[in-house]
Amino acid sequence: MTGGAGGIGRAIVRALAADGRRVVSGDIVEEAADEAALAVHLDVRDSGSVDAAVTWAERELGPIEILINTAGWDEFRSFLETDEEFWDRIIELNYKGCLRVCRRVVPGMVEREYGRVVNISSDAARVGSSLEAVYAGAKAGQVAFGKTLAREVARRGVTVNSVCPGPTETPLLEGMLGAGEASAKMVDALRRAVPMRRLGQPEDVAAAVAFLASEQAGFITGQTLSVSGGLTMA
Ligand SMILES: NC(=O)c1ccc[n+]([C@@H]2O[C@H](COP(=O)([O-])OP(=O)(O)OC[C@H]3O[C@@H](n4cnc5c(N)ncnc54)[C@H](O)[C@@H]3O)[C@@H](O)[C@H]2O)c1
Repeated sequence: MTGGAGGIGRAIVRALAADGRRVVSGDIVEEAADEAALAVHLDVRDSGSVDAAVTWAERELGPIEILINTAGWDEFRSFLETDEEFWDRIIELNYKGCLRVCRRVVPGMVEREYGRVVNISSDAARVGSSLEAVYAGAKAGQVAFGKTLAREVARRGVTVNSVCPGPTETPLLEGMLGAGEASAKMVDALRRAVPMRRLGQPEDVAAAVAFLASEQAGFITGQTLSVSGGLTMA
């Protein structure tokens, strides 16, 4: 899986390990990887790094049966204040990163006629999110890509699904909101917008991912599942 050293990624690692899976966590932050997983340096912005990490993972643990694309990043910015450099940063990581890893891993799954791909998108992809225009577009691209890949590999035993977290308490969200009174107000507003009146926890997202990665989810493909306490019901 990618992004395994982050808030949601660590919870996914633990959920998969609890299901008896042997997990390799690829991340640019190696030292923070979870003890439930083998860690490998991976930069999803670089095809060479993707190839090296996947080759290493397959040498250590054998063919990859499950791929979870979790690596992602954003920063709140009004679209009118963004520039092309910022767009490229967002798209390279959140969209093309997922393409690179799928391009490297999915052919093996197709050949072996078994695979589960789960892409961590965002509710921003489904309904938009103020100050996240480029990220929302990249994440929506990831969802549409996943649906199309799902169609192309459906008869080869490979499923591809997207999980869309709503606001979830992780280092990413903390960094985006910043500190201070304005941030506390924003957290409060987010909570009030959620029908269940709380922010997501990484474990909420991980449970959905573990299900879609399981044997039992074999007839579910091309789907988009929000994990957001009812914030998005589309
Ligand atoms: N936290 C939220 O509220 C929220 C909401 C919707 C979607 N998401 C998505 O969930 C995923 C996980 O987010 P999180 O909140 O756990 O964030 P996080 O920052 O805690 O984790 C992201 C992980 O991705 C890794 N990463 C960043 N760039 C990378 C690269 N180039 N190559 C490999 N790894 C890289 C980071 O080192 C980090 O470990 C992201 O795709 C994010 O967009 C998060």
